[in-house]
Amino acid sequence: MATLTKTRRLSPVRCIALIVLTIIVIVGLTILVIWLSVKPRRPIYSIENASLHNYNMTKNEHLYGNFNFTLKAYNPNSRISIYYDSVEVKLFYNSLQIAFNNAETFFQPHRNVTYLDLFLSAKDVALYGDIARDLKTERTSGAVEVEIKVRAKIRFKVGIWKSSHRKLKLSCSPRVPASSTKSSQTSPCDLDL
Ligand SMILES: *[C@@H]1O[C@H](CO)[C@@H](O)[C@H](O)[C@H]1NC(C)=O
Ligand SMILES: *[C@@H]1O[C@H](CO)[C@@H](O)[C@H](O)[C@H]1NC(C)=O
Ligand SMILES: *[C@@H]1O[C@H](CO)[C@@H](O)[C@H](O)[C@H]1NC(C)=O
Ligand SMILES: *[C@@H]1O[C@H](CO)[C@@H](O)[C@H](O)[C@H]1NC(C)=O
Repeated sequence: MATLTKTRRLSPVRCIALIVLTIIVIVGLTILVIWLSVKPRRPIYSIENASLHNYNMTKNEHLYGNFNFTLKAYNPNSRISIYYDSVEVKLFYNSLQIAFNNAETFFQPHRNVTYLDLFLSAKDVALYGDIARDLKTERTSGAVEVEIKVRAKIRFKVGIWKSSHRKLKLSCSPRVPASSTKSSQTSPCDLDL
């Protein structure tokens, strides 16, 4: 009888293994439940209201101009909000960088649309080779296609938990109307997160 109870009792090693296994299962299930209830979805970005003011091309083909855009940021998540801790914006024409600026940092609540103004001013930019000619041709045809590259440092917030910093990259190719009376079309951005 005594020997029977002794063989049924768990050895300390087995006991610890069982406890560890139980903890792993509980933690795993908790993460799964949180994940399912948070359901992360990618934010969506686009460019609206592209315009160009005070355009000037000097005789020796140096470009001046104030480019204005509205970046529409949509956070579709119902439980995740986003901190944008730095937002760098570069403007390119034909792969040539023509302007740089930092946009305002902001906090985006869940299920929110935020409009961010992007002011990009080209000052005395030398347009080498065929770039000046291409720009003039495109303006004559009605609109200029540019590329906007955004690099942002973001953090996610779920309840009171905040993630560490992550890099967000956007690439957008809006068409800027040559005349300010023409309205621009919405242009979606590619997201790399
Ligand atoms: C575009 O510009 C118009 C007029 O300036 C403004 O009313 C509208 O809200 C802007 N659109 C966005 C998405 O900001
Ligand atoms: C364009 O820039 C040149 C050189 O800075 C200046 O002489 C000229 O007046 C400017 N033209 C316009 C329309 O602003
Ligand atoms: C999005 O969040 C900003 C900043 O909190 C707020 O000003 C804006 O009204 C919100 N927009 C919507 C559509 O909820
Ligand atoms: C365009 O941006 C400039 C700043 O670069 C600003 O002064 C101007 O009011 C903006 N124009 C429009 C139409 O948004």
